Amino acid sequence: MVRIHTNPESAEAYRGLSPGRPLALGSVVSAVHQQPNGDAGPVLAMVKGADGRWTYVATDSSGYLDPDADLGLCARCHEEAPCDGLFGPRFVTGEESSFPPTP
Ligand code: HEC
Repeated sequence: MVRIHTNPESAEAYRGLSPGRPLALGSVVSAVHQQPNGDAGPVLAMVKGADGRWTYVATDSSGYLDPDADLGLCARCHEEAPCDGLFGPRFVTGEESSFPPTP
């Protein structure tokens, strides 16, 4: 199970995400995972910098930055995403998904 959060200013834009309508600079989008037993899972987040590029962040399930996360891999997948580096709400079912994706 995964919940997506954004900064309040970008929530509307994320909901209406479509190609050619990028999120504003400074946007934050996070995917908060929950394990099947209800415990907290990892949090994967993306922050859009002043240069318009996304920075990727990953925590482990205890909420600490995950030193083993391969952030280069995040970028590789998300550069292929349909809208501004994002897959968007259409792809996030809210049900148990295949996330975290296996390369
Ligand atoms: C194998 C491809 C792949 C990799 C690697 C990957 N992602 Fe994703 N990501 C996806 C897909 C597909 C979705 C759409 C949601 C889903 O499938 O649950 C997604 C959704 C997201 C979302 C929700 C926002 C959106 O609409 O795109 C965030 C935030 C996110 N990923 C962050 C990360 C971070 C941080 C990493 C690296 C630690 C990462 N992702 C690695 C494919 C990938």
